[in-house]
Amino acid sequence: MATEKNAQEREALTDFGYERVPWHEKRSRVKGVFDSVAPHYDLMNDVMSFGLHRLWKRFTLARTGLKPGQAALDVAAGSGDLSLGLARRVGAKGRVVVTDINASMLVGARDRLLNAGFVGNVAFVQADAEALPFSERCFHCISIGFGLRNVTDKAAALQSMYRVLKPGGRLLVLEFSKPHLGALAPLYDLYSFQVLPRLGQLLADDAASYRYLAESIRRHPDQEALRGLMEQQGFERCECYNLSAGIVALHIGVRL
Ligand SMILES: C[S@@+](CC[C@H](N)C(=O)[O-])C[C@H]1O[C@@H](n2cnc3c(N)ncnc32)[C@H](O)[C@@H]1O
Repeated sequence: MATEKNAQEREALTDFGYERVPWHEKRSRVKGVFDSVAPHYDLMNDVMSFGLHRLWKRFTLARTGLKPGQAALDVAAGSGDLSLGLARRVGAKGRVVVTDINASMLVGARDRLLNAGFVGNVAFVQADAEALPFSERCFHCISIGFGLRNVTDKAAALQSMYRVLKPGGRLLVLEFSKPHLGALAPLYDLYSFQVLPRLGQLLADDAASYRYLAESIRRHPDQEALRGLMEQQGFERCECYNLSAGIVALHIGVRL
């Protein structure tokens, strides 16, 4: 009896970086992180990745397969880098829906798209990736950039994205992954656990959120595990591209 109860209690916990927290608590802890980082988000992205995130996103956008006039969804859009690229690809006759669970991040995305001149054909919806509030089979392409790592139930999020994808449509998951750095691996760890939190403290007065960033990357499924998770949710023709030696990976899956 006691063992069964312990097992149930263990099951109800999940990772928040290296911490184990009750399943239901992760969403609000993640919200706290992004409320805190929102004002400095773009600057920190450039500084922390030495600008590489722009190349990773460009690589992703080049693989959407989108054509003018089509419909795209950006999940966990943050300040809207990928959303903007999607909007450029589908053009004035297409449609882009920009979603994030966090209102402060979504405001950044809205400003970015408005400033770039995208108005009538872009919608902003505050939504949880695990339960997307759209009808079935309505998007030609879905992107989620550096978002899946933060979602509590990744299988539910993949299932939800599968549901709203049109047959033949593509999901692109851009996310930190397991790097193959050989002798440089200790340097990556040093950078992640010593430099990043200090940069966070210096530039955003927030070391804890950037410690969470490094820890959550280590807890995220590696390339093969994520591909398996996508296949379990029904995605086919899954491909994985390692970027910057696998520090980041782009997974693409198709709904047939
Ligand atoms: C690291 S940011 C990535 C933003 C953007 N896609 C990019 O590539 O720069 C992660 C985003 O995921 C959002 N997020 C976290 N959990 C989420 C969830 N369950 N559903 C939707 N968005 C979520 C956060 O609010 C945050 O804006």
